[in-house]
Amino acid sequence: MGKMERFSFIALVAGIIFFLFADFISWALPMFVLKDIPKKSVQDLAAEAIAKNTSAWSDFKKIARYYPEQFKKYYGEPNEESFAKALKVGHRWYVAEGCWNCHSQMVRPVSNETLRFGIPGVSNTVSYPSEYQNELQAPVLWGTKRIGQDLIREAAVHNIDWHVAHLYDPKTTSPGTVMPGYPWFFEKDENGNIVPNERGIGILTYIMWLGSWEVKPPKDFRITGTATAKNSSGAEEFAKATE
Ligand code: HEC
Repeated sequence: MGKMERFSFIALVAGIIFFLFADFISWALPMFVLKDIPKKSVQDLAAEAIAKNTSAWSDFKKIARYYPEQFKKYYGEPNEESFAKALKVGHRWYVAEGCWNCHSQMVRPVSNETLRFGIPGVSNTVSYPSEYQNELQAPVLWGTKRIGQDLIREAAVHNIDWHVAHLYDPKTTSPGTVMPGYPWFFEKDENGNIVPNERGIGILTYIMWLGSWEVKPPKDFRITGTATAKNSSGAEEFAKATE
């Protein structure tokens, strides 16, 4: 056996061992890390949001005020039960409509993602395991592609009005966007206004919930300017608005 042949044999064996080790680590490590983190039900999440009075809970009450007729019809009063129901409905439609085909839900510690998908100074942490230990992340919605932005810190980015306009027809807020409109999240009220229906209220609640556990915002923290496809993460607008 020549010297080179011996070397390539060692390299091959080492390669196989490293491969098996990596494989082992990738399931064994999460198992130990996640062991002590309790998995929360939707009910737990709703109760926690209310107890901590997060932005998701105040946004839910805002939706009830903005669209009283539809809210009453589909969800009754804003309380823990209706909040949990709206989160479930929103999550179901997020999955069913394949939003995860275009949006991820994970901020990684690379490529300035905390700047791109969080709001500097308000919500600038990378994702961490306990964020995913709940019923709304089983299966996880990390996604595989980012045709649109990451949404795990979305609570801090836009207000309800913006989302309503954007979901009905994304081109009104984001000229040139490839995101399709979802008119079936809406219906007409008795005055002929287009208002969110059961699905719409659910998806709005779900979007406003994403990342709300992480955000302790000052009042009126959201970006009010019109987002464009080029600059829709809003970081620049936020920076300008707070100068
Ligand atoms: C074909 C790909 C595609 C699909 C499917 C899609 N989106 Fe989007 N989405 C985009 C793109 C591109 C943008 C950025 C431009 C814009 O604002 O529309 C975006 C932007 C957004 C934003 C604003 C993000 C921000 O921080 O400015 C939200 C919220 C959003 N999408 C939610 C959804 C939801 C909810 C669904 C499913 C009902 C969905 N998207 C489906 C491509 C998609």
